Amino acid sequence: MAQSMSVIVLLCAVLALNGVVGRELKATYTCTTGCSTLLSSAANFGVLASSTITNNGFSTIMGSAAIYPGTDVVGFPPGNITGTLYVGGAVAVKAVDDAQNAYDVLVAMPYNSSADLSGQDLVGMNLTAGKYFFSGSAQLSGNLTLNAQGNRSAIFVIQTSSTFTTSARSNVNLINGAKSCNVFYAVGSSATIHAGSNIRGSVLAYAAVTVGTQVSFHAR
Ligand SMILES: *[C@@H]1O[C@H](CO)[C@@H](O)[C@H](O)[C@H]1NC(C)=O
Ligand SMILES: *[C@@H]1O[C@H](CO)[C@@H](O)[C@H](O)[C@H]1NC(C)=O
Ligand SMILES: *[C@@H]1O[C@H](CO)[C@@H](O)[C@H](O)[C@H]1NC(C)=O
Ligand SMILES: *[C@@H]1O[C@H](CO)[C@@H](O)[C@H](O)[C@H]1NC(C)=O
Ligand SMILES: *[C@@H]1O[C@H](CO)[C@@H](O)[C@H](O)[C@H]1NC(C)=O
Repeated sequence: MAQSMSVIVLLCAVLALNGVVGRELKATYTCTTGCSTLLSSAANFGVLASSTITNNGFSTIMGSAAIYPGTDVVGFPPGNITGTLYVGGAVAVKAVDDAQNAYDVLVAMPYNSSADLSGQDLVGMNLTAGKYFFSGSAQLSGNLTLNAQGNRSAIFVIQTSSTFTTSARSNVNLINGAKSCNVFYAVGSSATIHAGSNIRGSVLAYAAVTVGTQVSFHAR
């Protein structure tokens, strides 16, 4: 890799995170048939961090958590990690490395010139499989539909060079066979998911992720 990622965030299936200012968070369920293997061992973690994991409320991380090379895990309890917490060690090192590799693959993936959505709001869009690119920040101020057109292996990638922000009560809706485990957001800096949003897919962010109340993530 070109440089060491200071922080990578994988955020999914974390229910009702309350005021979390996590550097890197992710929650997943067991992978099901037809899911991309892109995340490799990183897919086994609810929260995966390279710097810090900070929780401020009664969040539940569905799955295990790992942190490397950082060691700061704050706010559990009252937060709850249903699986195992790995602070350093081979399992954490591998998971963070796998997440870094997945991010690199997503960024390197080609996209059609018509899939350059720079400057547009994702609200109301109805996207078919493929990668969509934003040269600046990406915004979702309402509902986004991802349409697999019957292909249950269809992969959706939204790549932004800087931030990814959802307005309150935004939704990512999946139709015609699209699956959460095949949806990825490669975020060049930080992701901010505002209250009440329902997000499908895994968020891999280079910097921080901030999540409002009553947000739900489904990655699996
Ligand atoms: C954490 O979540 C698990 C699974 O839902 C539950 O069994 C356990 O009691 C919870 N622990 C705390 C401290 O809330
Ligand atoms: C790019 O998008 C255009 C318009 O949607 C489509 O006609 C063309 O086949 C696409 N090219 C590739 C390589 O997907
Ligand atoms: C998205 O497009 C599909 C196929 O054209 C259509 O069936 C579906 O109703 C559309 N959904 C939305 C929310 O626009
Ligand atoms: C947005 O999606 C939610 C959840 O699927 C749905 O209940 C709501 O009707 C949608 N809103 C619009 C404006 O399509
Ligand atoms: C289904 O989607 C996958 C991943 O995008 C692609 O490799 C495969 O060719 C698609 N299958 C069909 C039948 O289009």
